Order: sequence, then structure tokens, then C-alpha cells
Amino acid sequence: MPPDSWIPPECFLQSLDWPAIFGNHQPVELELGAGDGGFILAWAVRHPEANFLAVERLLGRARKIAKRARALGLANLRTLRLESGYVVARMCPPNSVTRIHIMFPDPWPKRKHHKNRLIQLDFLEACHRALVPGGTVRFTTDHADYFAAARATWAAAPGWAEEGPWDASDDPPTDFQKVWEAEGRTTYRTIWRTVPPG
Ligand SMILES: C[S@@+](CC[C@H](N)C(=O)[O-])C[C@H]1O[C@@H](n2cnc3c(N)ncnc32)[C@H](O)[C@@H]1O
Repeated sequence: MPPDSWIPPECFLQSLDWPAIFGNHQPVELELGAGDGGFILAWAVRHPEANFLAVERLLGRARKIAKRARALGLANLRTLRLESGYVVARMCPPNSVTRIHIMFPDPWPKRKHHKNRLIQLDFLEACHRALVPGGTVRFTTDHADYFAAARATWAAAPGWAEEGPWDASDDPPTDFQKVWEAEGRTTYRTIWRTVPPG
């Protein structure tokens, strides 16, 4: 029987103890706002040498990820139904995550809603703390304005270096990406790596 990937609410006030959760010391990657999990499930199958945490705040979507993980017999993926900012700032031990995937986060296009966007200075500070030195964030969006705003926020945050886009031609597509690209929308992507604040 594959492990149940669901992290229960009793753990929400505790720091995530990765070796206890996964039963090994493999590197840990997060996907924040994982949706139905199309990307992270395929990525976890492809990378048995790493561990993955799918974070999604909608119950139905998070349940779908956990159900698929069980059907696939994945031992290296866990599912957390919670708010991404809280997970990174309050639950991830410092220097413990190698990579964070943020794929097509909600763009909140109206100016009065920009404050709801995930990419904010305090969120980037929390990501920097959670990542190992040299750890990375992979960010993708179909929204040109959000892409520009996110890059500007990152550029203003201490301790980050932008590496630019990567060759994603062999990456599993996300569920939203399939829809957007079928509609002919452009995907913008870039990697940010932590560097010592200087
Ligand atoms: C546009 S969808 C993209 C989903 C997936 N990454 C994909 O590309 O298919 C954004 C997802 O992020 C989730 N989400 C939005 N804000 C979140 C937050 N603060 N914490 C956790 N999940 C969040 C939404 O519920 C939704 O499933």
C-alpha cells in the first residue's frame, strides 16, 4: 500500500520535519499553488531522488493531488492543503528546501487586487530563508504584467540573482499551462537563485 500523502491539520502549527515526513534525507522541492497537480505528480515520478511537497489551498484540488499520488504509488510526494505564504514562512525550516516551483499563480489583474499577489517582498524574504544557499525559485506565468511586476519585486529584494528562462521543452506541463498554450497564450518564465545578501 503506498503511503497516504496527506499532511493532516494537526501538523499545521509545527515545523515540517522533512526526514520524519519522507523517511529519508533526499532534497526537498515545493510547488506552491499546485492546482490539480499535473506538473508535480509527473515531476515526482521523474525524480525519485528528490522529495516533493504540493501546496494547494483549495480542498478539492488538494484532494485530487493526494488521490493521484496514491494511485501512482508515489513515496516521494506529500500534499498540504494550506496557504503558500504561511507554509513557507511558518512551516519550512531555514535552509531546508532546494527548489520552489511557482507555476501560473493567480495574477490578480486589477490594480486594487495587486496586494493579493503571491510575489511580495515579505514572501520573497521567507523563500530566501527556507531555501538552501544557492536554492532556486522557478516562476512561470501567462500574465505579462504580473511577470514584470514580479521581476521588479525580486530585483528589489536582497539576496537574489536572476538567471532568466530555462529550457522547459521537456518539462511536464501544468494543467493551466495546457489550457493557456492551447489558446495561444505566451508563457513567461524565469529562475531566481539565492545569493548571500550583499
Ligand atoms: C491559476 S492556478 C495554477 C495551478 C497550477 N500551478 C497549474 O499551473 O495548473 C493557481 C492555483 O493556486 C492556488 N492558490 C492561489 N493562491 C494560493 C495560496 N496563497 N496558497 C495556496 N494555493 C494558492 C489556487 O487555488 C489555484 O489552484
